[in-house]
Amino acid sequence: HRDLLSISVLKPWEIRFLLDEAEHWVAVNRAASRKHDDRLAGLTQINAFFENSTRTLLSFEIAGKRLGADVVNMHAATSSVKKGETLIDTAVTLNAMRADVIVIRHGSSGAVRLIADKVDCPVLNAGDGWHEHPTQALLDALTIRRRKGGFEGLVVAICGDVLHSRVARSNMLCLAALGAQVRAVAPPTLMPECVEAMGATPFTDFNAGLDGADVVMMLRLQNERMDGAFIPSPREYHMLYGLTPERLARAKPDALVMHPGPMNRGVEITSGIADHPERSAITEQVEMGVAVRMACLDVLTRSARKVEGWA
Ligand code: CP
Repeated sequence: HRDLLSISVLKPWEIRFLLDEAEHWVAVNRAASRKHDDRLAGLTQINAFFENSTRTLLSFEIAGKRLGADVVNMHAATSSVKKGETLIDTAVTLNAMRADVIVIRHGSSGAVRLIADKVDCPVLNAGDGWHEHPTQALLDALTIRRRKGGFEGLVVAICGDVLHSRVARSNMLCLAALGAQVRAVAPPTLMPECVEAMGATPFTDFNAGLDGADVVMMLRLQNERMDGAFIPSPREYHMLYGLTPERLARAKPDALVMHPGPMNRGVEITSGIADHPERSAITEQVEMGVAVRMACLDVLTRSARKVEGWA
């Protein structure tokens, strides 16, 4: 693959390969004294973000810099997109600057594919609309593998606003491919039709979906993607679908709690659970994000650097 646009096109061995590569970068990043590797020295990485981000943008920037690339960020809000420049003209402009790798976040599903088709270098999807967020799924899989030792038979409940979640879609595909038993747990109005086709079992009863789970992955209620047809009040949503200590007690006693961030504290998750020192893996997910993105940037630029190791 030249690009990383979705988990759906990756074979299980390719996912495992990226996770193994990321393990190397976890060790390098923890070594503290010197995090630089510089294998991307001389390459230019453009992070073009058409939607807000903290974790994904910063971790791609840190990852590129630790690998020695020249990293530049384009924020749509302060770019000529605001003057009406089209997506394709923006893509052609980035390409003319001879970028060696482009990372894109966009609010529309499929926009990243459109840009990838117009440029000559690898493109990484940093989240496109409701479609996919492949590096988020990889960092979540790495976090689970490190905490639980593997995926075979592991019960993972992905809970909340599944309908609007690219994180849920990439995670369902990724975790099912790795052998986990994936549950999509959502109110009927926030459950997409694609769940079973993506390898997950739908549950509209939150308590039943949590029963015996090894991993509970909470999702952010994405009000900005709702068109007014269904916007629950935060209080109402918390009562029905918030992860409280009582609800978490239905999962296994050592169940791991995850959230991709940003969190709506007190809405989909209580602070006591989010900050729990043993149960919550939320800050570990962020740490794994840098390692996974270093692995993806390294692997996807291998062909340009004439290094073996990726198709
Ligand atoms: N998880 C995630 O994508 O977070 P950001 O929106 O802050 O990048």
